[in-house]
Amino acid sequence: MTQTVTATNGVPGGDANPLRAGVASSRITDPCNVVFFGASGDLVKRMLMPAMYNLRLEDILPANYGILGFSRCEWQTADFRDGMRKSIDEFSRSGPAKDPLWSDFAKRLSFVNGSFDDAAAFKQLRAQLERNDAELGTGGNRLYYLSTPPSLFGTIIDRLDEAGLGPKNNKTGWTRIIIEKPFGTDLASARALQAEVNKVFDEKAVYRIDHYLGKEPVQDIMALRFANVIFEPLWNRRYVESVQITATETVGVEERGGYYDNAGALRDMIQNHVMNLLALVAMEPPVSPTADNIRDEKFKVLSALRPMDRSRIMLDTARGQYGAGTIGGKPVPGYREEPNVNPKSNTETYAAVKLLIDNWRWADVPFFLRSGKRMARKNSEIAIRFKGIPHRLFGETGDSIDNNVLVMKIQPEEGVSLRFSAKVPGPKMHIRAVSMDFNYGTGFGVVSAPAYERLIGDAMRGDATLFTRWDAVQQAWEQVMPILETWQSSTDETFPNYAAGSQGPASSDRMLAADGAEWRKI
Ligand code: BG6
Repeated sequence: MTQTVTATNGVPGGDANPLRAGVASSRITDPCNVVFFGASGDLVKRMLMPAMYNLRLEDILPANYGILGFSRCEWQTADFRDGMRKSIDEFSRSGPAKDPLWSDFAKRLSFVNGSFDDAAAFKQLRAQLERNDAELGTGGNRLYYLSTPPSLFGTIIDRLDEAGLGPKNNKTGWTRIIIEKPFGTDLASARALQAEVNKVFDEKAVYRIDHYLGKEPVQDIMALRFANVIFEPLWNRRYVESVQITATETVGVEERGGYYDNAGALRDMIQNHVMNLLALVAMEPPVSPTADNIRDEKFKVLSALRPMDRSRIMLDTARGQYGAGTIGGKPVPGYREEPNVNPKSNTETYAAVKLLIDNWRWADVPFFLRSGKRMARKNSEIAIRFKGIPHRLFGETGDSIDNNVLVMKIQPEEGVSLRFSAKVPGPKMHIRAVSMDFNYGTGFGVVSAPAYERLIGDAMRGDATLFTRWDAVQQAWEQVMPILETWQSSTDETFPNYAAGSQGPASSDRMLAADGAEWRKI
């Protein structure tokens, strides 16, 4: 069963690029079983199984591994294999599944059918895991991946424990659990979930996914800050005027109206993805790059966030909901017309928040966060806007001397861009803003692996750096709760207040204007 089928990273010229020379193999050493709960769901189909397949294709999976699907779907193992082949054919970044790699991969897939509270099904799961240990040499190591609705997380964890599948009963190997977001729907439910998780899993075994942390340019934030000398001296209140963190999308709520209408942009994006970006960009240098040292710094900076002043929430936040509009030249319906959305919904599809960090580095520097669906462009970026020059020496009348801006581009472009002033060629000292750009794809000659590939691989390795620790999750909930409560208790009569395909609601522009600032065009 340990046939080796090797492949390169699949990118022309990828390995030949001198910038990648000497990059060590990233093969995972521990054998392991990965169990996907909710195996017939969309996430497994679109993301997780293609990620597993590509980890194999890239030779990152250990030699001995097994993949188990668990769901209510009435599948047998053969159906699971067929279904997963189809999903790889359709969604894998490397194209359709190919032999001999596929047939080797398929042999390691097995399926357990059952409901998530059925003790008998968990016994079968245990039997299959033990069979895998014996036949595939998976060594008793287990990684559970909860890709089900969050309401089932607690039940699954209880059943795992009852079936002797928790860490305390595993005498031969390790047991870890990956938990999808959202981790709770507010502070109280997050705490309740944490209590359930902790009954069975120690914090060290818990890997809370925030897929933004698996994106290459997000990981590069730390490299940019702490592997260079030129940025960090300026990375503080003396030189930084404001920071803008943006995560906008052109998609609407698609098939997820039922979930989204109870969530909204603040819970869906700001509390997790955007707050994680803020933590990475604002934290102090960790004493070493270990998971806990990094996560200590993230927690510290989140705990330095100034609590929202309830009397200022309407001034320091903005919410929006999209109405009908045009995306990519095509008319699209408004949010309230989407399937499974309340036609009178008060749920925000756009959220903007101004935050302040009460510490020495950042005192009084506004951090403007925004996220929205059905916006003009998909765009995730962090923009550091530096202060203006202290004294103007150059520039003819009418020339403006723009502030320097450093932009970390997360998606769809991946790179870093620095805006600075330059002289326009000619006899006069005209000044214009120009930019220096670095692009990952052309720089390193590789296409970044999707976040889930990186994250599943890291959890199999036991590296929790890119997973959110409980203290940070709790802190982020504490920060957003006053906003959530204020928004929930008041209907926004202006909804829908931005057209699909636009730059977002005018109230959000007003929020920045109050600080003399402007949103960057998305
Ligand atoms: C998810 C949200 O966490 O992130 C979705 O639930 C959102 O609503 C998605 O569309 C955005 O992810 P990405 O990687 O496309 O920016």
